[in-house]
Amino acid sequence: MTNQTSEQFWEERYRNMTGQPSGRPTGKLVEFAEALPPGRALELGCSRGDDAIWLASRGWQVVGVDISATALAVAAERAKAAGVSERVRWEGHDLAQSFPEGMFELVTALYFQSPIAFPRAEVLRRAAEAVAPGGVFLLVEHSTAAPWSFKSRTPFSTVEETLASLQLDESWEPILVGAPKREARGPQGQTAEVLDNVIVLRKRPA
Ligand SMILES: C[S@@+](CC[C@H](N)C(=O)[O-])C[C@H]1O[C@@H](n2cnc3c(N)ncnc32)[C@H](O)[C@@H]1O
Repeated sequence: MTNQTSEQFWEERYRNMTGQPSGRPTGKLVEFAEALPPGRALELGCSRGDDAIWLASRGWQVVGVDISATALAVAAERAKAAGVSERVRWEGHDLAQSFPEGMFELVTALYFQSPIAFPRAEVLRRAAEAVAPGGVFLLVEHSTAAPWSFKSRTPFSTVEETLASLQLDESWEPILVGAPKREARGPQGQTAEVLDNVIVLRKRPA
C-alpha cells in the first residue's frame, strides 16, 4: 500500500467493494442541512453518492467530487435511479491537484480522510473559500477509529487542531465545534463507540 497513489488506493477499494451503499445520508448532514433552504452544495469525497443524492432529493443543486471513477460511476447510476440526475454533477478530481469551480451555500467534507498522505488542510482551506456569503461549511471527521477500520498512519487531529488548520478569519461564525460520541457499525454488523470531530461554520453574509 505504501507506494500507492491516492487514486490507486481508492479505485482499488471501490472496485473490490461488494456490498451495496447504505442509501442512508450521514447523520450530521441530516441534522444540520435539514433546516437549510436548498441552494448550491459541494461535497468533497462523495463516495458512492448517499449524501449528494439525499441533498439533491431535497432540492439542492449538488456537485459531488471524488477521486475514484468507480465510486462516481456508481453514484451517477444511483442518482439516475433516484430521479435526481439533473440536480447532481459528478466531478472526478484529485483534490490535492484540482478543485471544482464555483461558490456554494453548503460545502461538506464528511469523513474526507485517507490513509494515503495528501495536503488535507490545504484542501479544506480551499473548500472554505468556496463557501458563499451566508453559506455553511460542515466538516465531520473521525477523531478515533473503530477497530475494524483502516489504520491511520498519522494520529487523528483534535477538533481544536482541525479548526486551527482552517486559518479562518473573522468573516466566519462557529455554529458548532465539538467531538460527540457515535455508535459506529462495522461491515459484519459489529458496533463500537467512536468520537467524531464536528465543525459547523457559517460564513457571515457580505
Ligand atoms: C473515508 S471516505 C468517506 C466517504 C464518504 N464521504 C463517507 O462519509 O462515507 C473518503 C472519500 O474521499 C475520497 N478521496 C480520498 N482522497 C481524495 C482526493 N485526494 N481527492 C478527492 N477525493 C478523495 C475517497 O475516494 C473516498 O470516497
